[in-house]
Amino acid sequence: MIKVLFVCLGNICRSPTAEGVFRRLVEDERLGDVVQIDSAGIASWHVGRPPDERAREAARRRGVDIDHLRGRQVRAQDFEHFDYIIAMDRDNLAALIDICEPHHRSRLRLLMEFEPAYGIDEVPDPYYGGESGFDRVLDMIEAASAALLDEVRQRVDSGR
Ligand code: 4NP
Repeated sequence: MIKVLFVCLGNICRSPTAEGVFRRLVEDERLGDVVQIDSAGIASWHVGRPPDERAREAARRRGVDIDHLRGRQVRAQDFEHFDYIIAMDRDNLAALIDICEPHHRSRLRLLMEFEPAYGIDEVPDPYYGGESGFDRVLDMIEAASAALLDEVRQRVDSGR
């Protein structure tokens, strides 16, 4: 089993979007039984809440349903459990580094590291912007998720 956790600040915009997009890719590749996917937030403000309506609509327009997801905060056990802990921006990454045991540091990544050709290394926080910010987030997440899937598929295949 390969376990992937997406992390943003609130767990209501970017990371649930990444969870939904990546899950669809994984299921399309019939890898759903060997790849576990979750998302979480650095902050606790939106624990138990569904994703932001704008994120849900933007995902729905691309055929991804994230309505059923609920916010949760990153917890200490996540650093033991997940093979990939993938931050959306450098602030998220810095917050994770602060609370992560040094021997798990290599599990922490930035999402856009998987797709350097995109030319932007952080997924910008869309919360205080307009609708277009959510489409931009989706464009970036779709590009990086495809590259992440390639890496995960190789790990799955090498373990088979
Ligand atoms: P996210 O976006 O980190 O992509 O979920 C945000 C959601 C909520 C807030 C900030 C960012 N907030 O300040 O409540």
